[in-house]
Amino acid sequence: MVQIAPSILSTDYSNLGKAVKIAEKGKADLIHIDIMDGHFVPNLTFGPKLVADLKKITDVPLDVHLMVDNPRELIPKFDKAGADWISIQIEATVHAHKDLTLIKQLGKKTGVVLNPATPIHMLNEIIGEVDYVLIMSVNPGWGGQDFIESSLHKISQLKNWIKGKNLDIKIEVDGGVNIENMEKIINSGAEILVMGSAIYNSENPLETLRHIKKTVKKYNQK
Ligand code: DX5
Ligand code: ZN
Repeated sequence: MVQIAPSILSTDYSNLGKAVKIAEKGKADLIHIDIMDGHFVPNLTFGPKLVADLKKITDVPLDVHLMVDNPRELIPKFDKAGADWISIQIEATVHAHKDLTLIKQLGKKTGVVLNPATPIHMLNEIIGEVDYVLIMSVNPGWGGQDFIESSLHKISQLKNWIKGKNLDIKIEVDGGVNIENMEKIINSGAEILVMGSAIYNSENPLETLRHIKKTVKKYNQK
């Protein structure tokens, strides 16, 4: 099952509600929300209030990607705000097991994120705690960057490892995913594609999302 998660990072922030409505209309599976603290990554974006406000206007599950130092402090706040999926960067915490267990206890889909330079063996001791692994295919901080090609090998390695362990863990891929490269990313083993600029910087975001959903339909009929 391949799912599409439009990322609202690339939208005009005066129209965030509209961007979410477009995602909903185009049958997005998730809405990806990038939380950046100006420390873990140089950019600054949204806080829990945005998640709470968007939660009021949509039933599409909210996929909150925490690019923050000390994620533990913020996890309860995003939980209360209505995040459905919460992921933390493994590089941002020395207590990944504790933080992931907290997300799980709160009843949220629990995710761990690896930056491009972080090897998958960092997951060895915590893979049993997560519902999904997010592979960053750009260095986090901004939308609109080019997909790092070596991510494909990383995705297929991770896929084989998960399969070998017989685990039910999804691979999400974030950064530089577009209409041209999405199928090779799916064929490498990704099941959730985050797409920001490919959707929202296109001429007609709703039509683009519909086209993307149509493209992945064949993978979901297998
Ligand atoms: C990057 C963010 C991404 C971003 C992707 O740091 O984590 O979610 O929105 O944007 P595109 O799809 O434009 O690369
Ligand atoms: Zn993201």
